[in-house]
Formats: sequence, structure tokens, C-alpha cells
Amino acid sequence: TGLMGQSAWAQAYPEKPITMIVPFAAGGPTDTVARIFAQSMTGFLKQQVIVENVGGAGGTLGAARVARSEANGYTIFLHHIGQSTAPALYRKLSYNAADDFTPIGLVADVPMTLVARKDFPAKDLKELVSYVQANKDKITYANAGVGSASHLCGMLLMSAIKADLTTVPYKGTGPAMNDLLGGQVDFMCDQTTNTTGQIKAGKIKAYAVTTKAPVASLPNLPTASAAGLPGFEIAVWHALYGPKNLPKPVADKLQAALQHAVKDPMVKQKLADLGTEPVAPARATPAALDQFLRAEIVKWTRIIKAAGVYAD
Ligand code: MLT
Repeated sequence: TGLMGQSAWAQAYPEKPITMIVPFAAGGPTDTVARIFAQSMTGFLKQQVIVENVGGAGGTLGAARVARSEANGYTIFLHHIGQSTAPALYRKLSYNAADDFTPIGLVADVPMTLVARKDFPAKDLKELVSYVQANKDKITYANAGVGSASHLCGMLLMSAIKADLTTVPYKGTGPAMNDLLGGQVDFMCDQTTNTTGQIKAGKIKAYAVTTKAPVASLPNLPTASAAGLPGFEIAVWHALYGPKNLPKPVADKLQAALQHAVKDPMVKQKLADLGTEPVAPARATPAALDQFLRAEIVKWTRIIKAAGVYAD
């Protein structure tokens, strides 16, 4: 279609359902955030926003799928902090984490929790740390692959306690949680969007939250900083993207849908029950995300290179 043709379809966007790629397995924390936002954006756009889970390689397989998708707005991408750690962890990425995407905006910052199977012998964080140090070859740490938030938290934990963990990778911490509940894996660091329900049901043991401040919906949990790991802080930011070169009318429409979602009372309520909240509207913008993502890539590249951690 000619320029007019192209702008005609872009002006009319969306005219059919939109696929939101989530780069982790269904039932995990990223999937949970995605489905809440997809529901709100569906209402605004009057077209179904359908989540498709493309797991593997710590989220980089899903990112690669989006990077090579058609720039028509019918494939969008919800990913977290892993978008900024992958460039340092994967030396042969098939995409550029900043240049091969159109930033739509930031979505939510999610706290993490240090959790273990119900009958894990440590009674508090200090005991967990010493038990891990004393049994590091025997106990197992679950994560969602190199580049996931659970992997990143594990990397920070390993350098904080000076002990290498035996890690078990999953396509997401949804499946990892199933094994934690079944006692097939010992412990993990996972987001409150996935652990809150199991903690409140008493089905897993929780030791701390990894945020600077306590999490209101998990009042009995100390911060890791206060409970024995001074300065141990990590929160998982999430953001929304399209592939690069998204036509402006399409990007603007997606931006408007995201602005609607971060103000949506349904989104606020569901996220509050899961220990988090949508970002302020001023951060749910292309410029805010582009600037933040590029700064995060610089930050984590330095930290990861210093830790000497690689995936490939
Ligand atoms: C992660 O650790 O990054 C999470 O597993 C992502 C997810 O499963 O949603």
C-alpha cells in the first residue's frame, strides 16, 4: 500500500485482535502482570489483547520473536528487567534490546520474595543463608533461566553470601512454583505477583521481601536488608514495547491504552492484592521507558561483567 494506504490502516488501528507476547510460561509473575494489563487495554481498544507465552532462554526467545515481528501493532511485548540484563548475559543476542523495539511505556515495579518449600529447615533469613552456605552442593535454587528476574536475584544472592547455588532452570517461575510446592526444589527468589497467594495459604515458607521498604500486603515479612542481607535490594520493573518502526498513530494508540490501564481501578486493585501497583502515568510513556531502559542496560552490564556471569 502507498503512504496514504499505510496511514489509512494505521489510523484505523486496531481493526483485529492484538497479540501480547509474554517471554515466560503461563501462570508466572510476568504472565500475571500481562493478563491484568491486557484485560484493561482490551476494554480501551475495543479489540481483544491476547497473551501468548513464548518461554525459554530467560525471556530472550520471546524478545527475539517480537524484534522480528511486523511493525503493525498486532504484536506487542510485555517484559521485565530481563530486557536490560540480556545484552550482558547473552553475547550472541539476535536483537538489540534498545534499538529493535518501539518503547510504549513502563508498567509496574514488582517486589521479590525469598521463599522455600514448606518444610525447609531454616526458620529465618539468617538461618537460610548459613544453611545454604553449609549445604550449597545439596540444595537447589529454582529460576526461569539466565536473564530472568529469579536468575538475577540468585546472582545477587550468590555474591552476597559468597556461595554458588545449584540452580534448576524453568520456562518461568509458574512451573518452578509447582515444584517448590511439591518439594522437588528447595528455594527461590520470586516476585510477589507469583508468591503472595502461596505465602498467605501457608504452602511455602517466606523469609523476606527484597525491596527497600516492607510490602504492605505481606506485613509479616521483613526486608532482606533488615533480616540479615544488608543492602540486598532488587525490584522487577516491567514495560510494554512493540517492534521497532511502529507507525506513529499505532504507537500513540497503544500509549493511550497503557495510560488508561495504569489509571484503571481494576488494575490498581488486582496489583495491590499482589503486592504492587501500576507505575505513575508520567513513567508510562515512550520517552520515560527509552531513557530508563538504556540506563538499566548500562547499569546491569557493569554489574554482570564484574560478576563474570554469562549465559552463552
Ligand atoms: C522471572 O524469574 O523472571 C520470572 O520467572 C518470570 C516469569 O516466570 O514470569
